[in-house]
Amino acid sequence: MANKTILVTGAAGYIGSHICVELLAAKYCVIAIDNLANGSSAAIRRAQQCGQGEIRFYPMDIRDRPALDSLLQTHPVDAAIHCAGLKIMSESVTQPLRYFENNVSGSATLLQALERSGVRNFVFSSSAAVYGAPASVPIPESAPVSANNPYSRSKLTVEQLLADLHDADPRWAIGVLRYFNPAGAHPSGLLGDSPRGMASNLMPAMARVALGQQPMLSIFGDDYPTIDGTGVRDYIHVADVASAHVAALDHLFGAGSGFTLNLGTGRGYSVLEMIKTFELACARTIPYRIEPRRSSDSAACYADPAQALALLGWQARKGLADMCADHWRWHTQNPDGYAE
Ligand code: NAD
Ligand code: WQD
Repeated sequence: MANKTILVTGAAGYIGSHICVELLAAKYCVIAIDNLANGSSAAIRRAQQCGQGEIRFYPMDIRDRPALDSLLQTHPVDAAIHCAGLKIMSESVTQPLRYFENNVSGSATLLQALERSGVRNFVFSSSAAVYGAPASVPIPESAPVSANNPYSRSKLTVEQLLADLHDADPRWAIGVLRYFNPAGAHPSGLLGDSPRGMASNLMPAMARVALGQQPMLSIFGDDYPTIDGTGVRDYIHVADVASAHVAALDHLFGAGSGFTLNLGTGRGYSVLEMIKTFELACARTIPYRIEPRRSSDSAACYADPAQALALLGWQARKGLADMCADHWRWHTQNPDGYAE
C-alpha cells in the first residue's frame, strides 16, 4: 500500500526476508531491523533484488530500547511485523532464560517503543506450537492452547500480553498469525532458510542428505497412528506465509480490528510422503533409517485454515511439489546458506 511504512523485525531471517519481498511488491515502504543472531545482511540485499525496491536496514536488537526509540523517531512507521525471535524448541529447553529474555522481554521492549511512538498496528509471528499436542486435527484457532516447552511458552506468553494490551487500549489492532510448518524458498533461489547451529527441521535435513552433506535421514518414529506411522505436518510455502502478512496488514489498516489466525494449508503430509516428493524434486534417492520418536513430537498437526480465508481472503496457493523444488533450488545454489 503506497505511503504506508512497515517496520519488520527479524527481517534478515528466513520468513522476515520473504515478508520484505512481499511488502515491496505491494508497494509498502520497509524499515527492517535484525540483530543478525540467525540472520544475514545478504538476505536483505537479495530481498531488495527479489522485491525490486529499497529496504532501509538497521542491524539492531529489539531489546535495545534507546536504539528503537531513536529509529522510530527518525522513521515513523504505520505498523510493525514482529518476526524477530529465537525458534529452536530443543535449545529453548536447555536455555529457558535466554528464550524468555529474547522472545518475551524483547517483545515487551518493542511494544513499549511502538506505544511511545504512537504505533498501534502490530502483526506477531506466532506458531502452531502453542497448540501443544493437539487433541484432534485439523486444528481450529479455538482449540485449547497448551505450551509444553519454553519456546512455545514464549509465543503463548506474548500472545497473552498482546491480548492484555488490546484490553488496556483498544486502539491496538493486533494480528496474531500462527504458522504451521513453513518450508520452501523464494523461486529465484536467492532467499531461503540459512540456519546457524542446531536447527533440525525436516526439509533442510532432506536437502542435506540429497546433497551428500549428511549420509542418511533419520526418521523420528514410524509407529504413530498416522497414514504410514510417520509424523504428519502442515507444510506451507514460505511465500504463502509472507503473502498472508500483506493480507493481514490490509485488514488491520482497513477494518482496524485484530485477529488470531492459523497459517496452514489444511493438508497434512507424513515424513515418508515428504521424502517421496523431495526425491522427485531433486531426482535423487534419500536414504533413511528409522530412529526413536523425538520427545514432545506429536503424531499429526495440521491447520483448519478456514478463518484466514474468511477474514483475510487469504489461502495458501503453492503445494508440496513447489516447496520441495524451491527448497532444492535454494539449497543447490547456496549449499552453505548465505555463508556470511
Ligand atoms: P529466523 O531465525 O530465520 O529469523 C528470525 C530472525 O530474528 C533472525 O534473523 C534473527 O537474527 C533475528 N533475531 C532474533 N532475536 C533478535 C533480537 N533480539 N533482536 C533482533 N533480531 C533478532 O527464523 P524464522 O524461521 O524466519 O522465524 C521468524 C519468526 O517466525 C520467529 O519468531 C519464529 O519463532 C516464528 N516461527 C517460525 C517457524 C518456522 O518453522 N520457521 C514456525 C512458527 C513460527
Ligand atoms: C517435521 C516432522 C519430525 C526432522 C518445528 C517446531 C515448530 C515450528 C516448526 C517454530 C516431524 C520429522 C524431522 C528429521 C524427521 N517452529 N523429522 N527427521 O517438529 O513439526 O515443528 O518447526 O515455531 O514449533 O517444533 O518440524 O521440521 O522438525 O519436523 O523424521 O530429521 O518431520 O519428527 O514429524 P516440527 P520439523
